[in-house]
Amino acid sequence: MAEKEIDEYAEQDKRIRERLDKIGRKIMIMSGKGGVGKTTVTVNLANALVDMGCTVGVLDTDLHGPNVAVMFGCKDAELTSEDGHTFIPVSPRKGLKVMSLAFALEDPDAPVIWRGSLKNSAIRQFLSDVDWGELDYLLIDTPPGTGDEQLTICQSIPELTGSIIVTTPQEVAVLDARRSVNFSRKLGVAIIGVIENMSGLICPHCKEEIPIFGKGGGKKMCQDMHVPFLGSIPMEMGLPEAEDEGKEWVDQVGHPSADALKAIANEINNGTACSTSRDTSFMGTPSCKPSACASCTANCPSRNKGHE
Ligand SMILES: Nc1ncnc2c1ncn2[C@@H]1O[C@H](COP(=O)(O)OP(=O)(O)OP(=O)(O)O)[C@@H](O)[C@H]1O
Ligand SMILES: [Mg+2]
Repeated sequence: MAEKEIDEYAEQDKRIRERLDKIGRKIMIMSGKGGVGKTTVTVNLANALVDMGCTVGVLDTDLHGPNVAVMFGCKDAELTSEDGHTFIPVSPRKGLKVMSLAFALEDPDAPVIWRGSLKNSAIRQFLSDVDWGELDYLLIDTPPGTGDEQLTICQSIPELTGSIIVTTPQEVAVLDARRSVNFSRKLGVAIIGVIENMSGLICPHCKEEIPIFGKGGGKKMCQDMHVPFLGSIPMEMGLPEAEDEGKEWVDQVGHPSADALKAIANEINNGTACSTSRDTSFMGTPSCKPSACASCTANCPSRNKGHE
């Protein structure tokens, strides 16, 4: 890099730090495999946290398939800026701010064909030039894998609170989730926990659970790899439709998947979810007691230290 570019990069780092300093917890949602429910988890955790009274920002870094805007019901919103440099996030409801490349696309059907370096720049611009203001949480939705997007996030946000890894119980998904665990470890990012999504299908007729992708694979991986398990979310009819229509799901009663998502949001917000490295202040909240750490696996290294 030329000296000028190095200076610009450092200047952007400074802006990123200044903006993100105003945000409490910065959490990356990731998975090794595609289609396991990262965006679903991000959107529903965000809504559940807002329902609890938190202020939440959601950053969509899936530049090739930005779905967050649809699921929040704000797909027609456009990118705005008051000064031509700083972008104003879209606010689909009070307490929630959203930023996605979708707001800048003129044709929603046009493919985004970008090399890694361009993706790196776009994500860094989202971090440095979006006026998030003060927030309790920034949830960062990512595409599948452990590539450019995840690397840029981890390297550009030194105070990243941690990662949440989403998997289904199926062996191939768990295999890929193990890579996400090791990616977080290699980059020194705390693992807040693993979520097993699509954990059994609730039959809409008899309400019995059908283990369509198996069951328990995510939890078992947590035990094997000594990482916290945040909970299981069943597959449920109605959820995809609500997402397509941009309607909140977690405010509906009588849905086991909504209850599971709310319970996970509650656990994260109460500080009972463990993290295993880096930002230990995350688990130092007064409500964080070992006895409350119900979903933490017995082997979680955080279980025996840092909770007091
Ligand atoms: N618990 C669930 N019950 C029913 N449908 C679900 C559930 N979780 C996710 N889905 C559906 O599965 C599909 C994939 O979910 P989603 O888009 O959240 O996955 P993703 O991991 O973000 O995908 P990608 O890797 O493409 O970004 C969507 O149609 C979503 O509505
Ligand atoms: Mg997604």
